[in-house]
Amino acid sequence: MDRFIVRGGQTLAGEVRVSGAKNAALPILAAALMVPGKIRFENLPHLNDVTTMLQLLGRMGVEVLLDDTGSVELDATHLASNVAPYDLVRTMRASIVVLGPLLARQHAAEVSLPGGCAIGARPVNLHIKALEKLGVEFEVTDGYIKGRAPGGLVGGKVLFEKITVTGTENVLMAAALARGETIIENAAREPEVSDLADCLVSLGAHIEGIGTDTLCIQGVPALHGGTHRIIPDRIEAGTFLVAAAATRGSCTLTDCIPAQLDATLMKLEEAGAEITRGEDFVSLDMHGQRPRAVNITTLEYPGFATDMQAQFVALNAVAEGTGIVTETIFENRMMHIPEMQRMGAQIDLNAATATVMGIERLRGAPVMSTDLRASASLVVAGLVADGETTVDRVYHIDRGYERIEEKLRRLGADIERVRV
Ligand code: EPZ
Repeated sequence: MDRFIVRGGQTLAGEVRVSGAKNAALPILAAALMVPGKIRFENLPHLNDVTTMLQLLGRMGVEVLLDDTGSVELDATHLASNVAPYDLVRTMRASIVVLGPLLARQHAAEVSLPGGCAIGARPVNLHIKALEKLGVEFEVTDGYIKGRAPGGLVGGKVLFEKITVTGTENVLMAAALARGETIIENAAREPEVSDLADCLVSLGAHIEGIGTDTLCIQGVPALHGGTHRIIPDRIEAGTFLVAAAATRGSCTLTDCIPAQLDATLMKLEEAGAEITRGEDFVSLDMHGQRPRAVNITTLEYPGFATDMQAQFVALNAVAEGTGIVTETIFENRMMHIPEMQRMGAQIDLNAATATVMGIERLRGAPVMSTDLRASASLVVAGLVADGETTVDRVYHIDRGYERIEEKLRRLGADIERVRV
């Protein structure tokens, strides 16, 4: 198991390229199950979760051809199975996004219940309820979700009582091959959902309302092959911007889409950062100034992303003033706080609201990763701590960040990965 050793004190500066978005890549790779032909995906990030998804698709009979440019070609002409087994699903709960494609293509699917994870129970009841509107009959037995639509899927009206990113994605993919029209109301508007929709359209799907909370899909008999480039990862981008801001430094991120970072950039400007937005880059400069504390409430897109919450707690921990951070999306996404308190952070936690009183510097300490974004926030905290911080269980980070230590080193951070 690897750990990071982070020695604080450096002011970050320099330029890094943003990798492809994990949360776009996972549903888009799953969409390949719907296509009896070859699809080429470009700008795929090298992440453990992407590897797991490719393994899962391979188990089902999808031919996977990797090339050395970071592109992948998939061919799902001959599917051998419609089962997503527990041994793979338990390592990546996002595997649930194969449910919609399998039902669309094979009118049957068996997907292991994903189980909860550190940040919450992560139920999939809304996925099931919505797919039932498209004619799917479900039973949940032996830890598996078993869905079948003997006569094929039929378009219908879906209203999500709660916004769900992968729930929207599952219904979007199922509706693409359903007979007739499907309307999805209260759909998630995350850019990763729109990237999936754009990909499906390039493969022959008929989707209107992309980017809005109401999607209208006219089902088609079949999709065809094509090529799709994955959008940049806005959460990776936001994480590096916060790391530069916390160290009172600067950075330029290339291959990113500033318009998808509005909520994060607005809060960084409130914290005192000078932000420059380009066509495909964004720059941040603190001009050596200590960040000011900011108040955060997580919301669905285009609101402030829950996946950026932990990173801003780390920023507030060394900011001037007091910042109030409230998590509204997941019920248990504050586990980074006790670890930061061990580093001297002054934080009062009351249910899902953290009151963070900024101090000049944290103290290096051994800390433990619990989930993907909490781990990233502990690395940021280590960058602004006196002494050495060891971050254990970095496999959490490797699920969602491509070579984070190499990119941070390129910005001047003193961080190394050691195998223990
Ligand atoms: C996606 O998870 C992302 N994962 C998460 O990123 C992200 O934090 C989350 O959306 C919110 O933006 C992927 O896209 C692979 P939800 P998802 O369904 O789809 C409740 C990361 O760090 N809910 O939008 O699983 C749920 O419990 C990961 O990259 C139900 O109650 O999240 C949560 O409270 C973490 N029933 C809320 O809705 C359901 O059937 C939002 O969850 C589905 C969801």
